[in-house]
Amino acid sequence: MSLPKRVVLVGPMGAGKSTIGRMLARELGYRFMDSDRIIEERCGANIPWIFDVEGEDGFRQRETAMLNELADEPESVLATGGGAVMREENHPHLKRDAVVVYLKTSIEQQVERTRKDKNRPLLQNDNPEAVLRRLFALRDPLYTQLADIVMFTDRKSPRLVVRQLINQM
Ligand code: S3P
Repeated sequence: MSLPKRVVLVGPMGAGKSTIGRMLARELGYRFMDSDRIIEERCGANIPWIFDVEGEDGFRQRETAMLNELADEPESVLATGGGAVMREENHPHLKRDAVVVYLKTSIEQQVERTRKDKNRPLLQNDNPEAVLRRLFALRDPLYTQLADIVMFTDRKSPRLVVRQLINQM
């Protein structure tokens, strides 16, 4: 097996990017990084606060800068935010020296895994399922286009997903 320089996980909210990313990094002996968490640390505020004060545009600017910076980290597994694929200028940052993995997940699973989550501003409304459906329709083609590996995560434990991923690398 020849290991990729880095692994980048893309996919919707609730796909399991952070859980699977952390586990995969441990298996590979790589460093795990979560772009949302690093943005929060740098900013000294959580994502809902950034959306409130700077708007989604402000958050996206921070995200683009972060993805560019983190693309230079060798031996890393990066969990990205679900909207990281939306800006075309992010695509080279996501692809740089990376195997890009799309964690593909049904709307039902996304709804289940994000229920009662207060840290996702896009889902704080009356109908989070409708939002997830709309975002999926927009983003699924982009995730697919960027991905080197498409991995379905429904009805699989994170451990099984990690094993299947390592087998495909
Ligand atoms: C977003 C997903 C979130 C976070 C922000 C916006 C999105 O990350 O970046 O709330 O646009 O789908 P997760 O996919 O880790 O929840």
